[in-house]
Amino acid sequence: MKVLGIETSCDETAAAVYDGERGLLSHCLYSQAQMHAEYGGVVPELASRDHVRKLLPLVERALCEAALEPEQIDAVAYTAGPGLAGALLVGASVARSLAFAWDCPVVGVHHLEGHLLAPLLDADAPDFPFLALLVSGGHTLIAQVRGLGDYEIIGTSLDDAAGEAFDKTAKLLGLPYPGGPALAQLARQGRAGRFRLPRPMLDRPGLDFSFSGLKTAVVVATRGVELDAQGRADVACEFQQAVVDTLLAKCVRAIAQTGLSTLVVAGGVGANRALRQALTTLGERRGVRVLYPRPEFCTDNAAMIAYAGYRRLIEGEQDGLQIRAAARWPL
Ligand code: KG4
Ligand code: ZN
Repeated sequence: MKVLGIETSCDETAAAVYDGERGLLSHCLYSQAQMHAEYGGVVPELASRDHVRKLLPLVERALCEAALEPEQIDAVAYTAGPGLAGALLVGASVARSLAFAWDCPVVGVHHLEGHLLAPLLDADAPDFPFLALLVSGGHTLIAQVRGLGDYEIIGTSLDDAAGEAFDKTAKLLGLPYPGGPALAQLARQGRAGRFRLPRPMLDRPGLDFSFSGLKTAVVVATRGVELDAQGRADVACEFQQAVVDTLLAKCVRAIAQTGLSTLVVAGGVGANRALRQALTTLGERRGVRVLYPRPEFCTDNAAMIAYAGYRRLIEGEQDGLQIRAAARWPL
């Protein structure tokens, strides 16, 4: 079965083709990040309009790179939520219309299911069950992935996502959007110990996170301080360490609580070197296999949607004629 996957839940337009026999045949992506940078964050209306412009050419490219004609596609899968309502509607309408025109089944996929199953696209795919730490601009969660459709979110952010906290703090430090990578870069020149920020929620039991207070703590810690370049680097260093310490401590708890010995790390913040180093050391110390899927499958992409859709379709699932787009949709 050859499945065309479509992803438009936020600021990435993506199309991919997954073949049940041969694996991933193509995946194409267009990031709108540069367009939104001018506004310091994602502007939903601009995101929707850009998906309209970019999606069909990307679908054509994905088919071309897979060396397939439209009639060779057996089914279409698309991100039905959660995400930006207008952006989701673009992908949903295009997916439903293509499936209608090609007279093939279509299935709406949960975006987080896509992320949780993405590691299965890699050659060294983990076996079920495994733990997943998903840390991106939109989500921060720890989940137990037991099998297809069998997920339990055991920890989540009560407010800002980890990536969002990186981006907002980067903005405070005068760095351009999306500031996460720039802040991480700046942190390398920083000295530990000059500023002290809290490690949120570590004094409480459980696996939930809260990152919005960290940004406020940065404002408070630097109030009245004239920050030169070194000072900004020192703040970046302490902020990054606070996030890493918090994520690490919750992973330690999750491993102890579940007894699972494989941890998959996904999402844009998963690219953070300090976090990777800390988690890798944790894995070595506790005999836990820590996996980082290929970067292009960690961040938003259509390969994971095509794959999750494929798994659902072979279980006999498919949508009717309706167009599904749910901005909020619990997993
Ligand atoms: O998964 P992702 O590409 O997109 C979505 O959230 O949809 O994640 C992007 C987030 C942004 O907040 C970005 O600042 C953050 O991941 N990020 C990083 C790093 N690279 C990307 N945060 C910290 N350190 C990094 N190296
Ligand atoms: Zn995502």
